[in-house]
Amino acid sequence: MPSLVVVGTQWGDEGKGKVVDLLTEFADVVVRYQGGDNAGHTVIAGDDKIVLHLLPSGVLRPNCRCLLGQGMVVRPGRLLEEIDALAARGTSLDPARLTISARAHVVLPLHLAADEAEERRRGERGIGTTRRGIGPCYEDKAARRGVRFADLADPDRLRALVEDATACRAPLLERQGVAVPDPAETCRDLAAAWARLAPFVGDVSRAVHDELERGRHVLFEGAQGTLLDIDQGTYPFVTSSTTVAAGACAGAGVPPGAIDGVLGVCKAYTTRVGNGPFPTEADDETARKLREAGGEFGATTGRPRRCGWFDAAAVRRAVRVNGLASLALTKLDVLQVLGPEIRVCVGYEVDGAVEPEIPLDRLDRARPVYETVKGISEPLRDVRSPDDLPASARRYLALVEKWVGVPVSLLSVGARRAETLVFDNPFRLRRRGASGRHAAVARGPRSAGRG
Ligand code: IMP
Repeated sequence: MPSLVVVGTQWGDEGKGKVVDLLTEFADVVVRYQGGDNAGHTVIAGDDKIVLHLLPSGVLRPNCRCLLGQGMVVRPGRLLEEIDALAARGTSLDPARLTISARAHVVLPLHLAADEAEERRRGERGIGTTRRGIGPCYEDKAARRGVRFADLADPDRLRALVEDATACRAPLLERQGVAVPDPAETCRDLAAAWARLAPFVGDVSRAVHDELERGRHVLFEGAQGTLLDIDQGTYPFVTSSTTVAAGACAGAGVPPGAIDGVLGVCKAYTTRVGNGPFPTEADDETARKLREAGGEFGATTGRPRRCGWFDAAAVRRAVRVNGLASLALTKLDVLQVLGPEIRVCVGYEVDGAVEPEIPLDRLDRARPVYETVKGISEPLRDVRSPDDLPASARRYLALVEKWVGVPVSLLSVGARRAETLVFDNPFRLRRRGASGRHAAVARGPRSAGRG
């Protein structure tokens, strides 16, 4: 199977960075297709902890080509910072290894200012964005007045675009007391960034096509999570891009048929940053335990994450909308902190019935239905082989597979690469027909109701 999309199944921060980093061992090319530096992927390589916001995790593997698709919104200065930080630790990127789509949109200082102004305007109803200018940049894209990387090559065109965007935004900024960035200064900075980035800019859609034609393994790295998707998430408390697997097609410029499989990354409990509904949010004490044991602080903003019980009904929805073949389950080791019993949301009671999937459009009157099950009673950090998994972890894994209807192909029990158990290589798993120890799951809930 030469192409695999990796997506988050919850509200982001599921541990995609680590999973993608591991899978790049089997990949020749890694493509990011949506979002921008609102994402923050922490990867532990050797003794180094590296946080990436724009570059895909594949940059750490010398033979892996990295592509930033046209569905992304990119702050050039930030990208240069990441390139320089990697160079400082001995990983230098040349145009043969990194291509930025000429059609990717440029996040301007104006967009950061607009993000701040819009959050101030909303006041208590704020989204709790990362303030990285992501929403306003996508707004300008949809309004057809955005700046694309290709526009950076033409100073006159760039100036006209930046001045136009500034004129549209200035009134809101002034009303909210946010300084309006000077268009001339913006253009000067962008010209300096272009002088360095121009050799990296190209046709990513074509590049992915050519790599697939050559039979190379391509991994599409999603950012954020399914419940933050602009269409499939908890709107309006979402990000402004298509985070689900379908976004890989539009954002990287590949047809649906070019995608062979989708892996969902899923944390053994649930977290969210920012505002918006979180039905399985735990009481303060439980949340504190999870936050401390799991290091649940935003990689991008440092904000403490809200923490709660595993929401199998939400993940089940993610399995369906992404067409997941399997799950990478992360941070199972952290559950030990919760003691002998844990709660799991297995459905939602709404309008007198129990729904198996989170009812996104009726959440205001829906109530999570919990099952209390035995927790993780043994430490897992030192487990290196599936055969050595203690009974409590095996039991919990089997339950997760039953609840969400797909097998767990990868299990992470710590932040390091070595702290991962691989049951099945996700590059080999297809939507229907998992093999080996998961055959029973494949024949079970996944095929139910499909005739
Ligand atoms: P924005 O993407 O900065 O506009 O923020 C919109 C919402 O998405 C906020 O709730 C953010 O906290 C959330 N968000 C954006 N990026 C991430 C991420 O990488 N992980 C988790 N939450 C995110």
